[in-house]
Parts: sequence; structure tokens; C-alpha cells
Amino acid sequence: MRQLDFRSDTVTKPSPEMRAAMAAATVGDDVLERDPTMDALERRVAELLGKEAGLWTPTGCMANLIALMLHLQRGDRFLAPAQAHVLSAELGTGAWLAGGMPEALSWDVGPGICSPLQLWKAIGSAGPYYVLRTSLLCLENTHNFAGGICLSTQETRELTDIAHERGLKVHLDGARLWHAAAALDESLPALASGADSVSVCLSKGLGAPMGSVLAGSKDFIQAARRTRKMLGGGVRQGGVVAAAGLVALDYLPRISEDHNKAKRLAEGLRSFGLNVELPETNIVLAPVVDANLARQSLEDAGVRVLPVGSALRFITHRDLTERDVDEALARMEPLVERMLITWEGDRPMI
Ligand SMILES: Cc1ncc(COP(=O)(O)O)c(C=O)c1O
Repeated sequence: MRQLDFRSDTVTKPSPEMRAAMAAATVGDDVLERDPTMDALERRVAELLGKEAGLWTPTGCMANLIALMLHLQRGDRFLAPAQAHVLSAELGTGAWLAGGMPEALSWDVGPGICSPLQLWKAIGSAGPYYVLRTSLLCLENTHNFAGGICLSTQETRELTDIAHERGLKVHLDGARLWHAAAALDESLPALASGADSVSVCLSKGLGAPMGSVLAGSKDFIQAARRTRKMLGGGVRQGGVVAAAGLVALDYLPRISEDHNKAKRLAEGLRSFGLNVELPETNIVLAPVVDANLARQSLEDAGVRVLPVGSALRFITHRDLTERDVDEALARMEPLVERMLITWEGDRPMI
């Protein structure tokens, strides 16, 4: 039975064109001098985002970490929406490597979104020398664990204006900023304009085997290049993977196809009686009674998903077709009762 893999949009395999481009890439030594293909990718992504310069990193986590290391000093606090990737899925590196005290902003506007008023209050006012100094706001667009929720240009602006007025820097974790731009029909530079730094992923949704780009001002990226080396992220013939990144960008005009697949999936799950919100982008959250148990039932039927809190997370991507979505729904329909199982005492009834 073919596995239908909805665990993440990172599970895609490089396409034949991508592999061909990797094999044919012109390369140099990106640590000694610049690798020309890497250089082309970094310029292209910076341009797409409306920033002066870009720096490739092997992962989104490294791009975020470099930004946090540059924006934070020890004794600083940084703010991010609850369940942001930097708070909950990067092993606390914002604290133990970048030296910042993390503080979560609650979702008082809606899933993944915090109000300007809450931000204002959380920043507080400057205290005596011995209290934490709030110096960074870290936004995430789309918000992964909130279900791929988009932050519009206007919402971003309202938050980044307050942050800047109060002397904070802003980092935007835009691992899936491409998805927000497509779903909102807003431009990438507009969505990124209020951020001092922005990270985007080429390996999520776009199909590259690895790679993210951190973008910002020329000075920021120059400093970021040193920090990347410090973390062991300087690559030599990086053009081989940068070539994959350049091909991955060709998928940008097709990204809303994945949103349509997610909607089709959500509608199917709703028709089975599951309490599923229609997705804004390519992430569907299906609340279930016991996420681990439900995940296992689906896995046995060849539908792979990940539990996120008390929900199952499905992510659609370029390696799944609409027919795969229909096939997954057909495999899941007989299992729905197991997903909606009721609890008796402190254990699920199965
Ligand atoms: C919002 C967000 N930021 C950052 C990352 C980290 O990316 P990577 O797995 O490439 O380190 C992820 C990964 O899923 C993510 O969803």
C-alpha cells in the first residue's frame, strides 16, 4: 500500500529537474570566496523579499538562531506568539545559545495572532538596570502550530510599528511566508517590510532537499555570515544545494494548488463529522480525542500525519495530488469513529 504522507511539506523529494540542476551547478568555495550559484540564490531571495542581502543556511532553525543571536544580548527578553516555532520547536536555543528570555504572547485575536495592545503591555516600560530588557519581537507567518494561519501586511505593520516605536527589533520567521503571500494575495516585500530580519525556507512546500535564507540589511547579513561560520554552517561547494533552491523557487506560482488540496481535505474531514476549520493555507488541524491513538490508526491505513497538541496535523504539498487527498479521505472514512472515540474515566474507549 502506498503511503500518503501528510506529516509535513518537508517530506517532498527533489524533482528530476532539481537533481539535474544540482548535478550541473557551477560551484566555488563559499567559505574562501563566494560560490556563484549560492550567491545567485541569496541575491534572488533577498530581491523577492525586498531586502538588501540574503544568507543561505542549511535549516530554518539555524536561520532563526542566527537572527536571535544577533538581535539579543544576555539579559534581554524576546516576545513571540504562543507556540511559535522559536518557542516550542527549536530546543530552547533562543534562550541557551542566543541568551534571550522567551515570553509567549497569547492568541487574543485568533489562532496564532496577538493584538497590538497585548504587545504594547508585554513590552512594558524601561525598568531599573537589574530587570530584563525587552529587545526583540519574533513573528511567525504563517503560524505553523496554529494551523498555517496568515498574518496580513496590515496586522504585521501594526505589530512591527509598536515594536520599533518601543525600541525593539523584529525578526520574522517566514518559513512559509510564500504561503501567506499566495493566500492573502499580498506581496512578499510588503509582508516582510516591517521586519529587520526574515527567514524563509526552501525545503517547506517548495521542494528543495534543504536550505533556508535569512535576509536583512547588508550589515546584518555580513554579521550573520560570521555567526553562521561560528555555528559550523559555512558550506564549501554550496552551489550544489543552492541550485536546488533556485529550482524550488519555480514552484512559487503554483503554491495555491497546495492550499486547494488542503481545503478539499478539510471539507472531506468535516463531512465525516470532524470539527475542522477550513484552512487558510496548506495546514489542516483535526482535533481528535487521542491524537497518538488516532495517528496510529491512520498510519496503519497508510495515511501519515503528526499529532500537534490534541489535533492531527495534515500538511499538503507538491508530492501529493488531489487524487491522493481523495484516496486518503477514502482510507480515513472507516476510521473516523476511532478518531472521535469517547473517554470513559481516564482512558479512551476503543
Ligand atoms: C515556522 C517554522 N519555522 C522554522 C522551522 C525550522 O525549519 P528547519 O526544520 O529547516 O530547521 C520550521 C520547521 O518546520 C517551521 O515550521
